[in-house]
Amino acid sequence: MSLESLARKVARSVPATAPLLKAGYRQRERWLTGMGDIWPGLVRAQTEKITIAITAHCNLRCQGCKYGRDFMPGAVLPMPIYRDLIADAAAAKVPAVRLYGGEPLLHPDVVEMVEITNAVGVGCYMTTNALILDRKIDALHAAGLRKITMGYYGQGTAFDEYVQRPGRYDRLVESLDATRARFGADKLDLQFNFLLSRRSANREAVDEVRRFAERYDASIHVDVVHYSLPYFQEGPERELQFRPEDADDVRRTIDYLLELKAKYPHLLTESPVALAAFEDWAMKQDRMRIPCDARKLLWVGADGSVMLCYVTFPLGNLHDKRLRDMLYTPDHHQAARDAFALNCPNCHCEAGSRVEKHGPSFRKYAAVARERTPPV
Ligand SMILES: C[S@@+](CC[C@H](N)C(=O)[O-])C[C@H]1O[C@@H](n2cnc3c(N)ncnc32)[C@H](O)[C@@H]1O
Ligand code: SF4
Ligand code: SF4
Repeated sequence: MSLESLARKVARSVPATAPLLKAGYRQRERWLTGMGDIWPGLVRAQTEKITIAITAHCNLRCQGCKYGRDFMPGAVLPMPIYRDLIADAAAAKVPAVRLYGGEPLLHPDVVEMVEITNAVGVGCYMTTNALILDRKIDALHAAGLRKITMGYYGQGTAFDEYVQRPGRYDRLVESLDATRARFGADKLDLQFNFLLSRRSANREAVDEVRRFAERYDASIHVDVVHYSLPYFQEGPERELQFRPEDADDVRRTIDYLLELKAKYPHLLTESPVALAAFEDWAMKQDRMRIPCDARKLLWVGADGSVMLCYVTFPLGNLHDKRLRDMLYTPDHHQAARDAFALNCPNCHCEAGSRVEKHGPSFRKYAAVARERTPPV
């Protein structure tokens, strides 16, 4: 058993040790990143999570996303392909997969997917818009699903406008109320992914998501609006994307997030260091040059395509080739090295963990976080 899987096992059975083990992991990764800077040959692929878009269909039409419309239209990952993929992931001791899309709850075999993934000992969580979660949660929970993360796109009419489907906010609330009534926080971990965009970079929007998270006993993760993922877009007139004149709003929002982190450490999933760095990720975008740790990732599209990360480094297609024939090949390791060297569109995927694993950035943003977090 590797050191990482042993640490994960200990953290699962003794949750109090998790923060310490995580800090140790990040420290070791910082050391490895420093070594990779000097000897790039040391960087090798080591898959820790496979993100699987099991369907490209979606029941919403978010302004910031192309799924359900222009991205891989109609593509759905067939069950036999998923079975082989999970068998290969288990054989290679990949610790976890994330089921997403599109809208994963629309896949007709989603419950069976969760079931077979858990059965072979691969951890499994789902990212969903939660619109029909209440209709499937009993079966999903029985299949072993214990963690759900959800895109959070505002409330009330603002939500309906953003997802371009009238009346869906009421449906979402109904679905979340029913889900929480069935499974409390001790049985089901819920997390809202707060999309930090030009529209939501203000104190009111943060307070709204905070109250929403409190209502559902959920945590909050921050996703900075994307500028280079093939399936995201920047809204009409690019109105979701940050502009130079937004700098003060972004700064005030980050300051407020740091304040909340200090007051309610478990509410926000990111560390203060990661939160402090989000201001630069939002404003500088591809001018942030921080080595990418996509060596730990794999992305599978609903059409079966496999890439190292959400954006690039194609490794093959599951309709032609098994995962086991793509994992840890010379091409896979080369892609990991290219990601580390940023021979890529240099997006801000994994922004938080990249900062924490890169010594100079970690020290820089730790100082920013210390300076700007108010005493509580
Ligand atoms: C592509 S969605 C798929 C899963 C599900 N349909 C949902 O909306 O949560 C996966 C995640 O992407 C994030 N996201 C959505 N739009 C985004 C955007 N324009 N920029 C950055 N992240 C975005 C949200 O956090 C969402 O949970
Ligand atoms: S962000 Fe999620 S819910 Fe919105 S359109 Fe994209 S896949 Fe659908
Ligand atoms: S920085 Fe590069 S390698 Fe990393 S996720 Fe973005 S495009 Fe992929």
